[in-house]
Amino acid sequence: MSNPIALEPALDRMRKILTISESRLRNVILSFQEEMRRGLAGEPGSLKMLPTYIDLPTGREKGPFLALDLGGTNVRIIRVDLPGDRTVPRFLSDHFRLSRRDISTDGPVLFGAIARFIGRFLQGQGRTGPWNMGFTFSFAIRQSSIDRGELIGWTKGWTAEGVVGRDVVDLLNRALAAEGIAAVKVVSLNNDTTGTLMAGAYLDPDCDVGCILGTGTNMCYRERTSSFRKPIGHYPGEFMIVNMESGNFDAALLRTPYDALLDARSENPGLQAEEKMVSGKYLGETARLIIADLVGRGMLFGGRLPEAFAAPGEFGSERLSEIEEDPSPTAEGVRSRLKTWGIEAGGVDARALREVARAVSGRAARLAAAVLVACVTKNDPALERAHAAAVDGSLYQKYSGFRGRMEETVRELLGARAGGLRLNPVPDGSGFGAAVIAAVSSR
Ligand code: BGC
Repeated sequence: MSNPIALEPALDRMRKILTISESRLRNVILSFQEEMRRGLAGEPGSLKMLPTYIDLPTGREKGPFLALDLGGTNVRIIRVDLPGDRTVPRFLSDHFRLSRRDISTDGPVLFGAIARFIGRFLQGQGRTGPWNMGFTFSFAIRQSSIDRGELIGWTKGWTAEGVVGRDVVDLLNRALAAEGIAAVKVVSLNNDTTGTLMAGAYLDPDCDVGCILGTGTNMCYRERTSSFRKPIGHYPGEFMIVNMESGNFDAALLRTPYDALLDARSENPGLQAEEKMVSGKYLGETARLIIADLVGRGMLFGGRLPEAFAAPGEFGSERLSEIEEDPSPTAEGVRSRLKTWGIEAGGVDARALREVARAVSGRAARLAAAVLVACVTKNDPALERAHAAAVDGSLYQKYSGFRGRMEETVRELLGARAGGLRLNPVPDGSGFGAAVIAAVSSR
């Protein structure tokens, strides 16, 4: 039998270590801004602050472009017809799911699969080309210009060999050539945050931050080029988008024993500390570790761990979201949902699971809000100008209540200034934005 008497204090403790007070969030903001400055200066720190060699669009970019969006579970190819008037363009898209083998073997396997997919898509188009294509690659890339960039390191569980340190545009071009695809010219490379910002800014001139909350997490923003104190090579513009790689932020974050365990067992121990507390790839696993701990201490499920919580990485964040969908005091809906996953839970078990889910996702939403506020207030502390953040990603778009909690925290942190920062959801921003970037860079 479960032991609810011991369970309540254990849940209290769990909530306590996962709750981030407003004053701690303010510390996070200060540390984050300090890390931003370090990164721009090239000093050691957890934010890479990578130059992207692109500035915001005018909104007048026009014409047909292709966008390749790689980095989540699905690869997408999109034909985007930019209308040239800040309105939502027409899309024609297709996607395919990369297999475990595609993302964990090597460069030729990964890029070969992508090139064949592009070939199939082009066959269905009435136009033979040539096509200018923008490439969204949702990992940290060291760019030296708009159309080349080396992968700094994989994240989100990807491990394909022989890609780190290589120019991913070159790898894609080689794969396209091997498939005999000559109609596509890769004119630009960008991170998904940059794509999302460019899509958001195409529609709304106040947009100056891009944020992804999905499998992984990251942000980019618009900065004065003169703020870079590290060398960035040739770039004539006054402003540039900076890809912060904010998922690697690692200062003022209080790590729980569960975070430490998750990190130690991950593909990239010691890296992406903030991402491991915030993003969709990890929320389910954090909750699973807490549940396994409570079960191990005899407090849940009569001390026997249900199969669904046994294997690392198998309890996904979508399930946590589904658990949170039922607000009823009895948690009846949670119980029946658990049943469909083969888990027989009593009312106490179901309610405890929901508490765990709320605490894990609540921490994520608060941290995500704090780093966003940190980014926007670095250069405009009083929010004298209007700002909008373009936000995309499955966690933000789909996780039950995530968006509301994030917005609530933004209001808590900004108080009367909160009106100066809007959060604009930009679905498919990373793909549409790659087309905007292709247009800006082939101008
Ligand atoms: C990557 C970033 C990316 C983010 C969101 C992170 O793991 O390092 O480059 O923007 O995920 O996809």
